[in-house]
Parts: sequence; structure tokens; C-alpha cells
Amino acid sequence: MNDILGYKGKSVVITGAASGMGQAAAQLLVDLGAEVYALDIAPVTVPVAKAIKVDMKDHGSIDEAVAALPQKIYALFNCAGVPSPPFSAKDTVLINFVGLRYLTDSLIPRIEDCGGIASIASTAGMAWRPKLEKVQEFLALDNSQEAATQWMSDNPKDCADGYGFSKQCIIVYTMQSAKALAARNIRINCISPSPTDSGFMDKLKGEGQMPAEAIDLFLPSNGRYATGAEMGEPLVLLNSRLASFVSGNNLPVDFGYCAELFMGQRDDLLGITA
Ligand SMILES: NC(=O)c1ccc[n+]([C@@H]2O[C@H](COP(=O)([O-])OP(=O)(O)OC[C@H]3O[C@@H](n4cnc5c(N)ncnc54)[C@H](O)[C@@H]3O)[C@@H](O)[C@H]2O)c1
Repeated sequence: MNDILGYKGKSVVITGAASGMGQAAAQLLVDLGAEVYALDIAPVTVPVAKAIKVDMKDHGSIDEAVAALPQKIYALFNCAGVPSPPFSAKDTVLINFVGLRYLTDSLIPRIEDCGGIASIASTAGMAWRPKLEKVQEFLALDNSQEAATQWMSDNPKDCADGYGFSKQCIIVYTMQSAKALAARNIRINCISPSPTDSGFMDKLKGEGQMPAEAIDLFLPSNGRYATGAEMGEPLVLLNSRLASFVSGNNLPVDFGYCAELFMGQRDDLLGITA
């Protein structure tokens, strides 16, 4: 394969590479000739350069993983995440956002000129505008687990939907970080997927007991779940050379679901257009 995406020989770091979207992205990155460092709590089966066990809920575990990563990194892919339910709202925020931000902030000094960061948010985080003040208040904390946990205890209403809040935080963090990173010629973006067939979805429907009919309300008009690859591939594109002037964006990858909301073509159940 020629190197049109620019990953050949580049060191890239990806979380959540054991399953679903992250696994698909990791396999594609290996196929494209990248040196892939995969971080996950579960065993990684993709033949990456190095797989490192990490618990994104534990900053000590993230520190150990960071110590095992190269000093120069071309791109970071933040894919690890869990649904709530079955995970508690607090644990979900700690894994999906607080850990993501801690890892990202730890690695930013190592990201090369022209490098990039791409994270997975969600349609469930797309209603970030009405929550912006509270999300920014949370982002202004020092990002320790203690500060995050205390804030969540003090503001239970604002993070009762732990999953939605964690994804709003990813979107706002992405947009908020773009300015300082642009000054270093580093890009940062995220995607917001619609429902996707993966381990996450199995957990949400199984242990989380979310009825399939409730999830079906958020399917695009093509009437189907996405595959992991249909999310992993746009993520790889965003961090690639083909997107070299794209930064600060949250890209809905939803086959037009959000477009339909903005055009008033379907009910806005999450308040995304507010
Ligand atoms: N599946 C969906 O419908 C959907 C929709 C929108 C967004 N998302 C997001 O997409 C991302 C990828 O999820 P997926 O659908 O591929 O699910 P998945 O369950 O297949 O993959 C998630 C990965 O994260 C890893 N992980 C979970 N907890 C971890 C922890 N504490 N530390 C380290 N790794 C951990 C898992 O082991 C797994 O490999 C997640 O951030 C999820 O929130 C999923």
C-alpha cells in the first residue's frame, strides 16, 4: 500500500485497541506501516509493535504506560471507553474522560510537529452547547481523580448522565485545546459515532439492560448499526496527512443522523440542536 496517509514508520499510540472501533483502527494502522503502541485493560490481538496493559481509571497505571512509550509520537488515538449503565456515572466519567485527558496531557509534549490527536466522543455528547458552562467548570479543575470525584459529588445533577457528560467533556476539551496546539502545529479532533456494533453495545444491552428499541431511536435513516471499522477508519483519516489542516472539529460519524436533527427532520431526543 502506498503511503498517502503518511503513517509509514511513524510511532502511534492507541487506547481501546482490544475491541471494536479501536481494534479496527489499530489493525488499519498496522496495515499502513505504523509502529503501533496499543493500550488496553484487555488483551490486544492485533499484531502491534507493543501492547501495554493499562486501566484508564487509574492515573498510576497511565503513568506506567506512558513510561513504556517512545519519546517521539506522531499520533494519539483515544478510543477506550465504557457505557453507563452498567458502569456507574462516576466511573464512566473517570474512564472515558478524566483518564483520556490525563493520558493526552501527558503525551502532548512528545507529539511531533504536524502530529495529531483524535478521540472518540459520541452522539450522546452532541448536546454540549447547553452544558458548556458546567463542562468548562469541570475542565478547569486540575484533572486529578480526587478533584474530578469531588466535583461530581458536589454537582450530581450535572453528571447524572455520566456517559453523556463524559462525551460532552471530550468534545469541549477537543475544541478548547485546538488553539494552543495549533501554535505547536499539532492537530486535535474527535468523532461522534452513532450506535455501533461492538463490545460496548453488548455491555449496554446486556449488563446495562438497555432495550434494543431505545437504542434504535438513535439509528441513522439507513436503519443499521455501524461496524467498528466504519468508525475506526474516519479516526485514522483525521490523524492522517490527508487531514493536515483539520483541527478543533467534532465530526459526527452517523450517516446523517445529526443533519436530520438540524434540518428538523426527526425528533431531537437529546437536545442536540438547542
Ligand atoms: N458502540 C457504540 O455504539 C458507541 C457509540 C458512540 C461512541 N462510542 C465510543 O466508542 C469508543 C470505542 O468503543 P467500542 O464501541 O469500540 O466498544 P468496545 O467495548 O468494543 O471497545 C472499548 C475498548 O476500551 C477498552 N477499555 C474499557 N475500559 C477500559 C479501561 N478502564 N482502561 C483501558 N481500556 C479500557 C476495552 O477493553 C475495549 O477494548 C468508546 O469510547 C465508546 O464510548 C461507542
